[in-house]
Amino acid sequence: MTAAVETETGSTTTVSAEAAVRLTKVTKTFRDGGAPVLEGIDLSVAPGEFVCLLGASGCGKSTLLNLIADLDKPSGGTVDVPSGRAALMFQESALFPWLSAGANIDLALRLRGRSGKRERRTEAERLLDLVRLRGAYDKRPHQLSGGMRQRVALARALAQDSKVLLMDEPFAALDAITRDVLHEELIRLWETTGLAVVFVTHNVREAVRLGQRVVLLSSRPGRVAHEWHVDIPQPRRVEDKAVADLSVEITDHLRQEISRHGR
Ligand SMILES: Nc1ncnc2c1ncn2[C@@H]1O[C@H](COP(=O)(O)OP(=O)(O)OP(=O)(O)O)[C@@H](O)[C@H]1O
Ligand SMILES: [Mg+2]
Repeated sequence: MTAAVETETGSTTTVSAEAAVRLTKVTKTFRDGGAPVLEGIDLSVAPGEFVCLLGASGCGKSTLLNLIADLDKPSGGTVDVPSGRAALMFQESALFPWLSAGANIDLALRLRGRSGKRERRTEAERLLDLVRLRGAYDKRPHQLSGGMRQRVALARALAQDSKVLLMDEPFAALDAITRDVLHEELIRLWETTGLAVVFVTHNVREAVRLGQRVVLLSSRPGRVAHEWHVDIPQPRRVEDKAVADLSVEITDHLRQEISRHGR
């Protein structure tokens, strides 16, 4: 059975003083006078916490992540990332195709202000090792599989040395087995680095497989509709009964959200 505890959030999530990410009454409207995409989002993520953000297509998940990454500004409310800029990883690896895997990571290290070519090379090799891609420094993206490219993208995100890692459906384009392996790797990295992770997905099982907390967004406008604390111990597998049971419960809520908005 699941050991998960469902909590009705209403509009406020517990806000701790030392949150890694804190959103307060965040609203986002893209056009003057247009309907808000996000409305009244109160959400805080603790340091080292793994939160999965779940919601129907178009409900504003990427918009929310972009606000946390400071790529866009809220129309109302505040977004606070006390440790500074968060690292962001996308669905497609978004690697520079003309640069090798190592050079892509090297670029992130240079942007971070790391001088010393040899020192950067050592750090890039260490990061590639961390994502189990030892020896791939000189490989160009087209020479790598989709899963390997996402590993490089993850290493590049880690090169930013942020305390917060934002992931926007990073494994959605991968086959189930590769995704499974990367889930394991991600949990291992999360446990060793102590990063706070905000992981966006519309795959309910993926959210339950990974998150300590699953936050469900409603659509039009995107609001925090529900959240679940997932107390199932790691390592979890998507096939685990506890994961499946909670996924069924969350899917029911997601379906209700989708039907409420005619999607
Ligand atoms: N720059 C923009 N200008 C205008 N509208 C936008 C912009 N970015 C997003 N939107 C709109 O905001 C809504 C939410 O988009 P968003 O990309 O955040 O959804 P999402 O939940 O990430 O969807 P998906 O699961 O399909 O990736 C959509 O209706 C989209 O058309
Ligand atoms: Mg999106």
